[in-house]
Amino acid sequence: MTFLKNAWYAAGWEEDLSGDPIARTFLNEPVVLFRDSTGAAVALADRCPHRFAPLSLGKVEGDAIRCPYHGLVFDKGGACVRNPHGKGARPSSLSVRTYPLLTQNGMIWIWMGDKELAGGSRPPAYDFLTDNEHKTLHGSLHVRANYELVTDNLLDLSHAEFLHPFIMPEGVASTIKYSCLVEGDTIGAIHEMPDQDNTPLFRLLMPDVRRIDGRANNFWRAPANMYLDVGMRELDSGERRDCAIPQVHLLTPETEFSTHYFWAAARLLAKDDQRVDDAILAGFSNAFENEDEPMIRAVQERMGGVNLFELDPALLPMDEASVRARRELARLIRNEQESAAG
Ligand code: FES
Ligand SMILES: [Fe+2]
Repeated sequence: MTFLKNAWYAAGWEEDLSGDPIARTFLNEPVVLFRDSTGAAVALADRCPHRFAPLSLGKVEGDAIRCPYHGLVFDKGGACVRNPHGKGARPSSLSVRTYPLLTQNGMIWIWMGDKELAGGSRPPAYDFLTDNEHKTLHGSLHVRANYELVTDNLLDLSHAEFLHPFIMPEGVASTIKYSCLVEGDTIGAIHEMPDQDNTPLFRLLMPDVRRIDGRANNFWRAPANMYLDVGMRELDSGERRDCAIPQVHLLTPETEFSTHYFWAAARLLAKDDQRVDDAILAGFSNAFENEDEPMIRAVQERMGGVNLFELDPALLPMDEASVRARRELARLIRNEQESAAG
């Protein structure tokens, strides 16, 4: 399994990095994240070059981190700035790899590839998460499956009727009008659900509405970042009011068989209503952690370590976006490997 290296990956919500250094593995590489004395986030390889102790178990000292084993100190540029032994020699082999980071829309993003190329691209902008208009909630979970299986799950939302009664009531799957949209580097999975009963989710925001046109349109960009427009238009009155819970679903491979899954959901209605916050947080956390994760994990276990296409899966029309996304990602990885080789 190879990953797309030259890309920005979601590493953690800003608040994840508020105290002690944290250890996270991205693309099979252990990384320690901490904040320097100015509050800027720093990422170093989480492996001391001396005897390979995890630096994440050490202590932050100003702009540097001290290894917990024999006390070598590494600054945020990865150089050893203090050797407490003997004459304190610091040969150049005493250094650790650094990873470029940037913070955007409340998310710390990490670049795991060639550092020289990091400046040439930006993560997708999700400005609604941090504008002053929306109320935003977010969370994260750990999925014990390959990240592309999680992408498959999110690009075919017809599973919601069977896994998520809070989000999609019984009988809706048969009414979904599905289409796949390709625009530039974005692949969209369009799910339109005309003339249905209001859902428990949208009754939180528009409790009096009975009938709606529902939608759940998910827009993927490589490697695994999705903007999901979940919304409804009410059919009871001529006003046809629209209501949406725009979301992001950002997936970062931890290993071949595990994924960091970050999500956020925003809204413009009932922004100060704590009960709505609680219901959305509980409903979404339950859906992702207790309904999606065990299913995706079970799928991974049944597939073993074999790639999806090698198992010759039966494809249904609503698999179009996920198949296109898989092919596009494979193409990008192939290109990256070819240019690295030649
Ligand atoms: S392992 Fe880090 S100083 Fe020895
Ligand atoms: Fe789901």
